[in-house]
Amino acid sequence: LRMVLIGPPGAGKGTQAPNLVDKFGAYHLSTGDMLRSQVKQGTDLGVAAKKIMDQGGLVSDEIMVNMIKSELTTNETCATKGFILDGFPRTIPQAEKLDEMLEGMKKPLQKAVELKVDDELLVARITGRLVHPSSGRSYHKLFNPPKKEMTDDITGEPLVQRSDDNAEALKKRLNSYHQQTEPIVDYYKKKGIWAGIDAAQNPAKVWGDIIKCLGF
Ligand code: AP5
Ligand code: ZN
Repeated sequence: LRMVLIGPPGAGKGTQAPNLVDKFGAYHLSTGDMLRSQVKQGTDLGVAAKKIMDQGGLVSDEIMVNMIKSELTTNETCATKGFILDGFPRTIPQAEKLDEMLEGMKKPLQKAVELKVDDELLVARITGRLVHPSSGRSYHKLFNPPKKEMTDDITGEPLVQRSDDNAEALKKRLNSYHQQTEPIVDYYKKKGIWAGIDAAQNPAKVWGDIIKCLGF
């Protein structure tokens, strides 16, 4: 399976991607998680990216395209089982570069699934989110609480809040989404591989709709 998950901050991209991994064995490529790992390692890229992320802006297309390219060309699971792209592409130039790359590999994208949620619902999702930094697993204080408070169910390690998960940064992230990312929806509609899903429903319903739109 080779697909893209599109949606605003808090739409459920990172929540649904593991379901797709379990079902199809495809690789979950989250550019947000990749950037946060650079931040944690304190690389030059990480230091520069943290400023941009905390302000809700977008890291440059060139950096992001190179990041994805190196994964897509070297990752064994991507090559054999496919991939779920989460958070990429985020601009028209990124979408075009991705198509070029995949066409060159004779592995074109099969589906672009848009998780649609109104902005009003996203504040509560974002401000209540808890994450397990090393795996990227996310929980929610109210909507999906961990079994033990502030603790990852699987590893028992502590959960944290993302530094960009506050109301102020969210406003800017939503702005970036509407201005720069939403145009890729039309891009994929024109290619005939788009499907839109009501992602304001509960996670199980959203998952059911994803499976349906993939034709299973
Ligand atoms: P990224 O990490 O991609 O952040 P984002 O796009 O803002 O998306 P989120 O991770 O906030 O949302 P999600 O859809 O994954 O939500 P989740 O499933 O966790 O990017 C971060 C930053 O990195 C960007 O702002 C940018 O600066 C930079 N960046 C990354 N990629 C880039 C690129 N390609 N180009 C340039 N810059 C880039 O769910 C959220 C919460 O809601 C959770 O608590 C969850 O439990 C809960 N929840 C999920 N689904 C439901 C539901 N159906 N009902 C109730 N609660 C739910
Ligand atoms: Zn995410």
